[in-house]
Amino acid sequence: MSAPSATTTTREAPVAFLRGVAKTYGEGASEVHALRGVDLTVRSGEFVAIMGPSGSGKSTLLHILGCMDVPTEGEVEIDGVPVPRQSDSERTRLRSERIGFVFQQFHLLRDLTVRENLELPQVYLRRREGKHLPTPEQLIRRVRLPAALLDRHPTQISGGEAQRVAIARALANAPSLLLGDEPTGNLDTVNSSAVMRIFDQLSREGATIVLVTHNPEVAEHAQRVVRVGDGRIVREERPPHPSGQEGSG
Ligand SMILES: Nc1ncnc2c1ncn2[C@@H]1O[C@H](COP(=O)(O)OP(=O)(O)OP(=O)(O)O)[C@@H](O)[C@H]1O
Ligand SMILES: [Mg+2]
Repeated sequence: MSAPSATTTTREAPVAFLRGVAKTYGEGASEVHALRGVDLTVRSGEFVAIMGPSGSGKSTLLHILGCMDVPTEGEVEIDGVPVPRQSDSERTRLRSERIGFVFQQFHLLRDLTVRENLELPQVYLRRREGKHLPTPEQLIRRVRLPAALLDRHPTQISGGEAQRVAIARALANAPSLLLGDEPTGNLDTVNSSAVMRIFDQLSREGATIVLVTHNPEVAEHAQRVVRVGDGRIVREERPPHPSGQEGSG
């Protein structure tokens, strides 16, 4: 496989493609229209931030992108593969093969060591052909943590370290798409910066990233900011890149 390049080739399917995506929770009087028709294309190597008021549908959108939830209407494709609405197992497979997800609350498994947490996504990965899967040592190095942490449990590391381990875990299946829902939401400024430096580095290496955030400083790391309001995309921006990195040419 050639390294992902910043300039997308015309034939390459977008990493994520959403068309007319609507999501309604509940029925009748208790209906909530979380998404009301979203079109979004994320191309290989893009770093996208999703912002918007609380309740505007950001997490719903991210969960649909991550094949964790299905739309009530509309189409979703990951790497050109349609995400099936009916089959949970097919969707789980797509997710385990192609998606990395970082949660605000880390969600590491406490009874496992850091190493075992990092190995777990690979256990669930059924189709490994053609994929170079990183070792726990490689993963922990990518998030700039010492290998000594591998033998500890999540209760024996700090919050900042836990989130970096969670990013490492999200990379364990060599995903096409790396998603984060408020990944810095539980961190102080210093740890937030450390986490964002890792996302920046992954982005420079060609990763395709979509982060939900309330924090404008976090959004500044992205090349595209998608503003969501009341279940719709209301506008898009391209902030100047803080690291002075080149934008699209
Ligand atoms: N499982 C659910 N059942 C019913 N309603 C839901 C469910 N999940 C979300 N909603 C509703 O859908 C709407 C969008 O929720 P969502 O979690 O996507 O918002 P958000 O933009 O991520 O908000 P926040 O910034 O607070 O995390 C909200 O009105 C929410 O109450
Ligand atoms: Mg949310």
